[in-house]
Amino acid sequence: MSGWHHRHILDLAAFSREDYAAVLELAERFRSLPVTGARKLPALQGRLVATLFFEPSTRTRSSFELAAKRLSADVQSFSPSSSSLSKGESVLDTARTYVAMGAEVLVVRHRSTGVPQQLAEDLESAGERAVVLNGGDGLHSHPSQGLLDLHTLARHFAPQYPMPEALQGRRIVLVGDILHSRVARSNLWALTACGADVVLCGPPSLLPDAFSEFVAEPPPGQSVDPVPKRGSVRVERRLERALPGADAVMTLRLQKERMTQQLLTGLERYHRDYGLSHERLSLCGQPVPVLHPGPVNRGVEMTGALLDDPSICQVEEQVRNGVPIRMALLYLMAAAESASEAALVSISS
Ligand code: CP
Repeated sequence: MSGWHHRHILDLAAFSREDYAAVLELAERFRSLPVTGARKLPALQGRLVATLFFEPSTRTRSSFELAAKRLSADVQSFSPSSSSLSKGESVLDTARTYVAMGAEVLVVRHRSTGVPQQLAEDLESAGERAVVLNGGDGLHSHPSQGLLDLHTLARHFAPQYPMPEALQGRRIVLVGDILHSRVARSNLWALTACGADVVLCGPPSLLPDAFSEFVAEPPPGQSVDPVPKRGSVRVERRLERALPGADAVMTLRLQKERMTQQLLTGLERYHRDYGLSHERLSLCGQPVPVLHPGPVNRGVEMTGALLDDPSICQVEEQVRNGVPIRMALLYLMAAAESASEAALVSISS
């Protein structure tokens, strides 16, 4: 843990394999500790975590709030519809209001790419100590989702030792609306960093060819890639060609709210071409887990029968795994910020 150097967590592009290992290892420790009822961990006692979600959320927001409470933080949530945003207050001024009330961690979701980064930069310029954790921004990034998906896959492939190496050489198929998916982008960084070979599958309107080059260059804004040897990325247009040999399949929500033009000829056609079902999965040649970040368009990305089959569908397991992953992130950020690892030793032993 002593190598942790991320002050804000804005995306996964700058994460090394050691960073992934640190988060996964800490999440494993947190999940095995009794933290319900009065038995909270004291790590963030006296600290205020504010969840500033300018876009709707069920999973991410609740999961961060639960994670913060299990670490004994005070939690302040924010509702855009009943806030002074409606009177014209800016996002930055809203965030600074929470910092003025003592918030040390801001978990931020916004429909526009770059808002969490802009907030982090503005807070730095103002000399504020508060750190920003991206809860999902536009099409760009959803780092905690990428990490909980990694945790879910690592636990599936190597339950005794669910670390990044569990992904080495695995073929993971991502299906559907890659273009509009911040989850897909975060997973591309995380999965390839851990040595997985990613196959992207979808129609050209939702999956431009350029995605095959997504991790070919150093991450944006960096001269070198922190990961020396990434897994590969390739594009397949037809599910029948993408699925054979897969070790896991992740299907992504059709993000109708982000589509600026008519990109699909119809949901029935989409389901016929890219929808997952028990029958379709048999093309993999072995039993494979199916992931979806939620919320699911039931009967579109996958059949209702598959969604309701916990022996295959990992949707609820992903939600469960989100809490220890977010505890790990909040803890690492707070520990790095206070430069104190003594607290970690005392809470985790
Ligand atoms: N996966 C995800 O981000 O879900 P929410 O939009 O419900 O937070």
